[in-house]
Amino acid sequence: MPTVVNLDGVLVPPEQARVSIFDRGFLYGDSVYEVIRTYGGRPFEEEAHLARLRHSADRIGLVPKWDAARTAREIARALEASRGGDAPDPGAAPWNVGERYLRVVMTRGAGEIGLDPALAVDPVALVVAQPLAGPPAAAYREGIAAAFVGVRRAAPEAIDPSAKTGAHLPNVLAAGEAHAVGAYEALLLDAAGFVTEGSSSNVFAVARGVVRTPPLAAGILEGVTRGVVLRLALEEGLAAEEGPLRPEDLEAATEVFITSTVREIVPVTRLGGRPVGSGRPGPVTRRLHRAFRALAGGPPGIAGV
Ligand code: PDD
Repeated sequence: MPTVVNLDGVLVPPEQARVSIFDRGFLYGDSVYEVIRTYGGRPFEEEAHLARLRHSADRIGLVPKWDAARTAREIARALEASRGGDAPDPGAAPWNVGERYLRVVMTRGAGEIGLDPALAVDPVALVVAQPLAGPPAAAYREGIAAAFVGVRRAAPEAIDPSAKTGAHLPNVLAAGEAHAVGAYEALLLDAAGFVTEGSSSNVFAVARGVVRTPPLAAGILEGVTRGVVLRLALEEGLAAEEGPLRPEDLEAATEVFITSTVREIVPVTRLGGRPVGSGRPGPVTRRLHRAFRALAGGPPGIAGV
């Protein structure tokens, strides 16, 4: 059974996974979540993800139904039940074959309809375990297109961007805008025009050999992969800098790449319809991805695809 839902501790097939239409996650996006992936069947950076889930819940005053230890146990049960049965995918990147995507969601619960969080009763906790559909091997070999979109990242004063919540409409609209112009990822600016992050990724630029990414103060999610990449850059002896970036910094960069749990490090070779640098995945991106692959285990990086 490749896709399994662990709903409040009960393992069910996806079609039997039902939550109340009065659940505030459904009505208001009043929930927190994490996306974790496996390598060799084991969750990667699980502790960091569970710490961020706790942080997200704290930021919005949501009391999670499960603590971190229970969540890890419930993830393990969902994983165990979802073993085997993967459909073959000849275009898959080799390090994704047979691996699992894990989505952990905790909602504030159901209750009387009304915005007041105090109305919430019966919180939901669930884990979806399903085959990981990461970017195809070609995305690592050729790079992908990204585009700046009109939708802006919500101001940090509106929703704390360090909280990974279910309130995702701006990200949904941004992704739609990018896909409509043939781009794979949307890049969002803040109200002042600075680069923040992708619709579901962090973004990096390489200029004059320096790896640069917006700081947390830019109003972004503290990506687990972003953290790993900054660490790897140091270990590789690369200069890395967290600092404000404008769209023109990305346009003038020799390399741009995005990072996320599901995507690792994916080269951006076209930005707004124009090539980035040489229009091919660059040496710094390839080097970081090789280092990432060595850390996570399994087949080597872009050069080895
Ligand atoms: N998204 N920024 C945003 C807005 C995100 O939603 C994500 C992750 C990231 C990258 O974070 P990490 O490296 O911890 O995955 C940055 C997940 C993968 C998703 O919603 O599918």
